[in-house]
Amino acid sequence: MTTLATKVLGIDFENPFILASAPPTAKIESIDKAFSLGWGGAVLKTITPDNLEMIEASQRYATWKVGNKICGFENIELLSHLTIQQWLDGIKYLKQKHPTKVQIASIMAPVVKEEWQNLVKTFNNSEVDAFELNFSCPHGMPEKGIGMAIGTSAEISSMITKWVMEVAKKPVFVKLSPNVTNIAEIARAVEKAGANGFSAINTVQSLMGVDLETFEPMPNVNGKTTFGGYSGISVKPIGLRCVAQIRQNSNLPILGIGGIANWHDAAEYMTVGADIVQVCTEVMVNGYAVIGAMKQGLLNYLESKGFNSPSDLKNRAIANLSAHEKLPKSTQVYPHIDDVLCIKCGKCVTICNESEHSALSLLNGHVIVSHEACVGCSLCSHICPKSAIVMK
Ligand SMILES: Cc1cc2nc3c(=O)[nH]c(=O)nc-3n(C[C@H](O)[C@H](O)[C@H](O)COP(=O)(O)O)c2cc1C
Repeated sequence: MTTLATKVLGIDFENPFILASAPPTAKIESIDKAFSLGWGGAVLKTITPDNLEMIEASQRYATWKVGNKICGFENIELLSHLTIQQWLDGIKYLKQKHPTKVQIASIMAPVVKEEWQNLVKTFNNSEVDAFELNFSCPHGMPEKGIGMAIGTSAEISSMITKWVMEVAKKPVFVKLSPNVTNIAEIARAVEKAGANGFSAINTVQSLMGVDLETFEPMPNVNGKTTFGGYSGISVKPIGLRCVAQIRQNSNLPILGIGGIANWHDAAEYMTVGADIVQVCTEVMVNGYAVIGAMKQGLLNYLESKGFNSPSDLKNRAIANLSAHEKLPKSTQVYPHIDDVLCIKCGKCVTICNESEHSALSLLNGHVIVSHEACVGCSLCSHICPKSAIVMK
């Protein structure tokens, strides 16, 4: 019997879909609702010492849309506004009501040993199942020397991980930033410092755009903005790359995050090393109810492949990632044009001509491929407005 149940570091997840630390996990009542709707767990909105100031800007979001579809999402939001006591009470309430759901405490503190250790000790005695160290928020916090300012330094990341590991009584995941030159280097450093696993990725530092009438950048906060964090479906390729690079360098569990909008995205993350996945922007855009289709879709897929559980998918694509010099280059593919779908618009001919190869021509209403000139790059198949070109 195929199951969605997954065990990571001894923690039982009834399904591999959990909410990422973000607005959907900022309130106890809403996490309660998400659990009732079927989410396997939640990483709580990042908790900080009560005295860390958290003054938000308005507005705090900007989006990049194609038609009505939100492809990219930018935020300049800070961290949790609940007090530590409110979280402790809420975590207890949620565990009593939903004993099978996993709760992970995301935490962040100034770079002071006692501050990190006090937070960990406080939540050691709560019902949370694990910790996630937020070393990766790219806005607001780095100005204070925390968030991404920690996660972009292997040295500081490693030092804080050691402090945390000295006192943590629950598994510790380190949430890594994609805004580094070499994510594997940071992963290796925190693994060496004792971390039990990774969460990746946090948001990608971004600037959504500029209003050309007023020259005010977005999101517009009374005419000004700051660099924010980019998320949603457009960051999936970055998240997949980061998770794969971490997996190539470590065997520790990975909670995959970044642009996961459906079961297919989640399954792809698993093939490059994720044990389970976290979702944020898709829920902010379409609501908690998306979990139903995610779970059913993944279950159907696992069954169709004869897999017993999500862990059977883990790492399956890793062996197919290689250095460019080792790619099998002895064969070449060529475009095959479906004459029924082709509208003879000539776009592929123009683009091929203007992008180096001049391998396509229109002759008597048909697109002709010159095998001498074609290098098999596949550009024509991507730009065809009718998807009439397949590389074979
Ligand atoms: C509005 C917003 C607030 C967020 N707040 C946090 C946070 O408090 N702590 C954290 O670790 N990540 C935070 N994130 C990052 C998400 O947890 C997640 O890593 C990122 O959005 C990528 O996943 P997605 O593409 O599914 O949104 C936030 C993201 C958004 C969009």
